[in-house]
Amino acid sequence: MDTMTKLSSEQLIAIEEKYGAHNYHPLPVVLERGEGVYVWDVEGKKYFDFLSAYSAVNQGHSHPKIVNALKEQAETLCLTSRAFHNNVLGLYEKYMSEYFGYDKMLPINTGVEAVETALKLCRKWAYMKKGIPANQAKILFAKNNFHGRTLAVVSASVDPDARKDFGPYLPGIEIIDYNNLDALAEALKDPNVAGFIVEPIQGEAGVFVPDEGYLLGAQKLCKENNVLFIADEVQTGIARTGRLLATCGNCNCAGNCENNYEIRADILILGKALSGGVFPVSAVLADDEIMLCIKPGEHGSTFGGNPIAAKVAMAALDVVKDEELAQNAQRLGVIFRERMQKLVDKSDLVHLVRGKGLLNAIVINDEETSKTAWNICLALRDNGLLAKPTHGNIIRFAPPLVMNENELHQCCDIIEKTIMEYKQ
Ligand SMILES: Cc1ncc(COP(=O)(O)O)c(C=O)c1O
Repeated sequence: MDTMTKLSSEQLIAIEEKYGAHNYHPLPVVLERGEGVYVWDVEGKKYFDFLSAYSAVNQGHSHPKIVNALKEQAETLCLTSRAFHNNVLGLYEKYMSEYFGYDKMLPINTGVEAVETALKLCRKWAYMKKGIPANQAKILFAKNNFHGRTLAVVSASVDPDARKDFGPYLPGIEIIDYNNLDALAEALKDPNVAGFIVEPIQGEAGVFVPDEGYLLGAQKLCKENNVLFIADEVQTGIARTGRLLATCGNCNCAGNCENNYEIRADILILGKALSGGVFPVSAVLADDEIMLCIKPGEHGSTFGGNPIAAKVAMAALDVVKDEELAQNAQRLGVIFRERMQKLVDKSDLVHLVRGKGLLNAIVINDEETSKTAWNICLALRDNGLLAKPTHGNIIRFAPPLVMNENELHQCCDIIEKTIMEYKQ
């Protein structure tokens, strides 16, 4: 086949189906261009992106400042590996440490690699500093967590699709209820517990926001028991929930109170929007007491901290501050939930809206195993808005944070019209 021939959506989907592994179930739409809050399919139809590549494109599609940083660095120096130094990495590490208020950062590529890094760091600290006997360290995970797809983290998953037939599973994992401080306190009685890893809001599980005080209480309990509090902010971080970090607490600074977090994780995990969706960039931040437990040769990645990633991440974080994306997410999130609540009040199909900032979900009045949320997403697509179910009855809504109020109202109009016209 002549690869330059313009292919239709249908043809492109068929090629993926034939030659690609079937490890995803995408909504049938084939995108070829993105700009800001919009994407276009190969037939030229324009959509609002209301997923942002699972919260990676917080700064909007192809943000010129981030894309220029990538282009300039790609034309200068792409990769050195960590066999040698390069002239960007140290400056990036300094920038990140100051931006998030930690002694050090460890650069890596994808979200799950950053989670894996945090788990290894936690185990090292357990043996070197806490004095847990060799190979006895345990890490607590919350039920219904999502931390990615490696064997280590699927060992901690309770989702049958993520786990089944991938055993044997990693030992040293204990799963406790999310949003339950009593369960955490009970688990912490075990002196071999080294860390507790938690998503500040469970995104994949369906945007579950824990009770007020849960995260602060969890952090306190961990501290009292000399256990590391590890925040997986891969999805919630970088302004998504109306704060620079979802663990920022409730000081109403919208993420602007530099390094003055009410809750401060011992290990902070970031990914996705750290690059504005332009490049796979992730990072782990911690203070020296923890970070220096890992020595040369004990962890790393050929691409981790490459000069393009470094430049892209600094540009992406500059955009977050310059364009006040946390403040915008906070403000628009309130408007979005108000509009969705009105819809909940008048429609039998939707029975709940929940979320924080611009990470939200609506819950559909149907079984978790139903196809209703999927079918609504198909109808939303036909009406010009792209979103994806997290379960058969939950639709996550996470638009780029560069959206303006007028665009948000247009999106709410599309959602409202789609729901009101939907027939089972
Ligand atoms: C909370 C959380 N952690 C980790 C990951 C994994 O990130 P990645 O897909 O970049 O490996 C995700 C992805 O959705 C996530 O939501």
